[in-house]
Amino acid sequence: MTRDTDQLVTQAATRIEAAAPALGPRVAIVLGSGLGGLADAVEDAVTVSYAELPGFPVPSVASHAGALVLGRLSGVPVACLKGRAHYYEGKGAGVMAAPIHALKAAGVRILVLTNAAGSLNLEAAAGSLMLITDHINFAGANPLIGAPGDNFVDLADAYDPALRATLLAAAERLDIALHQGVYMWFAGPTFETPAEIRAAKAFGADAVGMSTVPECILARHCGLRVAAISNITNLAAGMTDEKLSHDLTMAQAVEGGEKLTRLLQAALPDLVAA
Ligand code: HPA
Repeated sequence: MTRDTDQLVTQAATRIEAAAPALGPRVAIVLGSGLGGLADAVEDAVTVSYAELPGFPVPSVASHAGALVLGRLSGVPVACLKGRAHYYEGKGAGVMAAPIHALKAAGVRILVLTNAAGSLNLEAAAGSLMLITDHINFAGANPLIGAPGDNFVDLADAYDPALRATLLAAAERLDIALHQGVYMWFAGPTFETPAEIRAAKAFGADAVGMSTVPECILARHCGLRVAAISNITNLAAGMTDEKLSHDLTMAQAVEGGEKLTRLLQAALPDLVAA
């Protein structure tokens, strides 16, 4: 990070600590489209607008709020990010660098990423959840391009195997079907073409979406452990006659969002112990 970003990170971390003194959030959870429900379950919640946190991007998509919710979920000190900035908003692939570094400075050790995604697997239709096991980044962008320091990050097991096992066990306990697969990042903001989805399938992707990969890279770069789950809102382009839109994504995010909220609440104590 540049010295300017360093300063923003220090200021943001100080504000986080001042907003919730002695909380010491261990887990940060990025809430994707329609997943704001988890933040409502936070106990003793303190909400800080991104506008008050230096370096936190104020999201441009209306349905993505921009606020950090600090408190406890199932007894675990957490920081929930209601809203993220996406690469397609034009501020670069590293747009989430300052928030991720600030959360680390405030004590976070695990980053849980959630997103809405299109499925390439007919068995994982809208309303399903998919645990991300690995990703494909052919978007032509990377948040570490041009960043100072050692950026040659090993991305094998970027999605932490012990955290994955913990989430799978929690899903089984709750009788929630948790698919597993590879997430392919597309830059957006357009949805993919049917030809791109056929190509993604040939490459080995199971789901596609417009987020998560840059954040995973940034988090691994600074040593955070990462887990990620896709809330499947639709079958990908060309797989059905359904016309894709942001409104459809939001409407279809409800069922999976409710399951994901229950899953994360149940899994959190075991995630911090894993
Ligand atoms: N493609 C990309 N991003 C998405 C999709 C999709 O089909 N559904 C939800 N987010």
